[in-house]
Amino acid sequence: MKRVSISAALLIVSLAGAPFCAASGIVKPGDPWTDDRGQRIQAHGGGITLWHGDYYWFGEDRTPSNEPEKRYVACYSSRDLVHWKFRRQVLVLSDPEHLGPHWVLERPKVYPNPHTHQFVLYAHLDDARYKFARVMIAVSDRIDGDYHYVKSFRPLDQESRDIGQFVDDDGSAYLIFESRPTKGFFIARLTNDYMNVEKTAFIPAPLEGGALVHAGSLYYVVGSHMTGWRPNPNVYATAPSLAGPWTEFRDLAPTEANNYQSQSTMLVKVVGTKKTTVIFMGDIWKPSALWDSRYLWMPLEISGDEMKLPPPHPWQFNAKTGEASIVP
Ligand code: DGJ
Repeated sequence: MKRVSISAALLIVSLAGAPFCAASGIVKPGDPWTDDRGQRIQAHGGGITLWHGDYYWFGEDRTPSNEPEKRYVACYSSRDLVHWKFRRQVLVLSDPEHLGPHWVLERPKVYPNPHTHQFVLYAHLDDARYKFARVMIAVSDRIDGDYHYVKSFRPLDQESRDIGQFVDDDGSAYLIFESRPTKGFFIARLTNDYMNVEKTAFIPAPLEGGALVHAGSLYYVVGSHMTGWRPNPNVYATAPSLAGPWTEFRDLAPTEANNYQSQSTMLVKVVGTKKTTVIFMGDIWKPSALWDSRYLWMPLEISGDEMKLPPPHPWQFNAKTGEASIVP
């Protein structure tokens, strides 16, 4: 009897503290999202890496108690994409290129390199005025760090701000980056050592928050317009191959919905035993308190060359079968 009441108490505590119901695996987009410690997940502008059956979520750690002159990337792991275990702050970096106060490290993404067996972290590195416009690389021998700074550079000699991550079905890895002077997205394949990129495709659309998925016979690219931290209607285009031809961009949600106040960061494809589901992973930014920014994750509705972000609503997910359903 005593044991029953203790576990009941634990269950109540975990339900009260988390936006996810441990038993049912319910995602509540826009709600505060807590980790296994009951602390808010700090993985903004993030990316997901699947490694040996576990998902790893890397992102900007904006914890208010972080040292203000350093930048932090946090890592969480999960079997089901719903319950997340805090692993560690995998990168704690002091201004590596002497960019000065308010220097910027955004949108970290981690690629496991099958050739070198290293984990390679890419991020957007910038100064306070976003003029440096480079990517940076840090590496680790373990997926959950520590990562060590290697270098920064302009991919393909182009200015690079928002970055996105894409790994195709054949395992080839790509960096998506936004290049303002050329008014578009580059999709650039990582070289064998993952320390550089080579041009694969250019999409002439002045968008940021670039995200890409290969679903069925099409590639879908999603991006947001350039309105700083303010949300705007995100758009998408499709193509039969990365090289194109890409369709015109269309709204991902009704224009007036303003992408439900969120901005794209990644499209996560889960190939389950029964279904393949693509999850829209977005940030609801709070620029005056970035640590309190929320996450909007929703399963996308895809039919032929149409992709739709449904209105945010609690949804249940089974990462094994790939089945996602809106909670009635
Ligand atoms: C929009 C970008 O997508 C964010 O990552 C961030 O760089 C903000 N701009 C800064 O205004």
